[in-house]
Amino acid sequence: MSTSVKVAALIPAAGSGQRLGQGPKAFVEVSGKTLLERAITNFAEHVDEIVVAVPTELQTKAKNLLPDDVIITTGGTTRQETVYRLLQTCTAELVLIHDAARPFLAADIIKRTKAAVLARGAASVVMPVADSLIEATTGQTHDRSKLRAVQTPQGFRQNLILRAHDVANARGAQVTDDASLVRALGEPVALVEGSSWLLKVTDPSQLELARALAPHWDAQQDQATLTSQLKPSSML
Ligand code: CTP
Ligand code: MG
Repeated sequence: MSTSVKVAALIPAAGSGQRLGQGPKAFVEVSGKTLLERAITNFAEHVDEIVVAVPTELQTKAKNLLPDDVIITTGGTTRQETVYRLLQTCTAELVLIHDAARPFLAADIIKRTKAAVLARGAASVVMPVADSLIEATTGQTHDRSKLRAVQTPQGFRQNLILRAHDVANARGAQVTDDASLVRALGEPVALVEGSSWLLKVTDPSQLELARALAPHWDAQQDQATLTSQLKPSSML
């Protein structure tokens, strides 16, 4: 696969945000921008196409909110169904699937995920687990050094992940981790090191955290943009 392959960001944003309790989460604001706008902004410089899936009743709201070149489709009743619809809508050979609920996605993680997909066909961003892990019912411990928490983005060759979803659908398998569907085909998935910044806004405490972190994140992004704009002239 050459590096000139067309790359799409696929953003599942069609959940109902039950645990947060503030309506569909993608439209919740974090320091002046919705989670969905933040997800899109993070990808803008790095992909050829952005496709988002939102609930049916929020199509118009999404159209008014997002840049014209973002493709908007309708999500399904499960995340897996939503991702399948995104896969059918996109026209790229390489896809990066990223939860709208993770607003702080750094450029270097996008670049490393893309590179891993080009090399290996599939890649999943994961984090070592910091806490000790036990089973709630038995208290049985698990060796955390062997375990990883799965974040997003996850990246794939589009035809590979589409095949993985087709096989899972035929078997009636339901997952929230797309990479596990690729592993079920016997195909390898490269692991890319993630970041604590990739927290998923799931309950009210994580929204509070995201709101506290956003000004710092935004200042970092502004600084990075400024530095990249200054580079060419400083080299003259
Ligand atoms: N998602 C989706 N379609 C669904 C369910 C989830 O696109 N039918 C998306 C969510 O919008 C979110 C991501 O998948 O960006 C991760 O899901 P989660 O954090 O579970 O979000 P919700 O399903 O909205 O939240 P909850 O489970 O608390 O209802
Ligand atoms: Mg959910």
